[in-house]
Amino acid sequence: MSSSMSFARIVGTGSALPPKLVTNDDLAADMATRQIETSDQWIVERTGIRQRYIAERGFKTSTLATQAAQRALADAGVDASEVDLIILATSTPDFVFPSTACLVQANLGNKGAAAFDVQAVCSGFVYALTTAECFIRAGKARCALVIGAEVFSSILDWNDRGTCVLFGDGAGAVVLKGSDTPGILASELHADGSQTHILAAAGNVAYGQVTGDPFLRMDGQAVFKQAVTVLDRSARSVVAQAGLTLADLDWMIPHQANLRILTFLARKLDVPLEKVVITVDQHANTSAASVPLALDVARRDGRVQAGQLVLLQGVGGGFTWGSVLVRM
Ligand code: ACO
Repeated sequence: MSSSMSFARIVGTGSALPPKLVTNDDLAADMATRQIETSDQWIVERTGIRQRYIAERGFKTSTLATQAAQRALADAGVDASEVDLIILATSTPDFVFPSTACLVQANLGNKGAAAFDVQAVCSGFVYALTTAECFIRAGKARCALVIGAEVFSSILDWNDRGTCVLFGDGAGAVVLKGSDTPGILASELHADGSQTHILAAAGNVAYGQVTGDPFLRMDGQAVFKQAVTVLDRSARSVVAQAGLTLADLDWMIPHQANLRILTFLARKLDVPLEKVVITVDQHANTSAASVPLALDVARRDGRVQAGQLVLLQGVGGGFTWGSVLVRM
């Protein structure tokens, strides 16, 4: 295949949420039945989260991912048969194998595209998007579907009030195509594997049973500090790579973990908070889904417009982080 396309461009977005909305008050009432105290006031003050969507038991990540992918394809005006690469970021796959990307491929009726999952927790979408960009720029793919999808509620300890209030379920997707004009202007990915202990779900299925701890555990304050530090550094770095400045940004879409992280980050970068897309109040932290979900919401409500400069940023367990600078 000869390829004159030197860039990769986002040509469509989509997202999906499970039907069940759970407010902070709903959560507090449910936890009270187990003698665990929390409140809407505590959650809003510390995190900015007001509600989240939670999948019913048995509801699969592939189902959310397929819905988001179908909406992104419809938005792009691209038929599923045109897709030649599917990369799906998740920490809550349907199965040990096959990959959730393959399950989505079957749901979409696509045959023959390369399909695989990426595991970088809350940085997963930024990792997947950068990987897809490399395939397209190398002429190895022309039309990629990049998805972040999670049923994160399945790995939460609902008796641990320090973590269970922070997360929700959802999915977001983009269609990425080869283009003569950019597109993705710059990107970078990083990890520090020595920080695994501050955020992990350190369990697995082996020998027919759960081994280790099947639930997410987190040192909240350590994660907070790391997140702000690496997001700040990475934002400056990718903007400089593209020969631009932070003042050129129309929007920042950082991983939606916590409103206080977003506020601190904007202040450190001297970017007005009005330029930060905030959806964490509506969806809580949906891990790999958070960035594409926020991007899709902000495009559909008219905030993010064609031609604008948008910085997408992920940060999460691993510890992992990365940034992608995009001309929409
Ligand atoms: N409701 C009521 N009280 C609570 C709750 C709750 N849901 N959770 C914790 N508390 C209590 C604690 O037990 C503690 O009580 P104590 O003082 O009697 O021991 C008190 O609140 C303070 O607890 P801290 O953990 O010190 O609270 P902190 O101010 O650090 O806030 C939080 C916790 C919100 C998790 C904060 O550390 C944070 O935002 N960290 C960032 C982590 C994050 O967003 N992670 C997302 C996943 S990582 C990622 O996506 C990159």
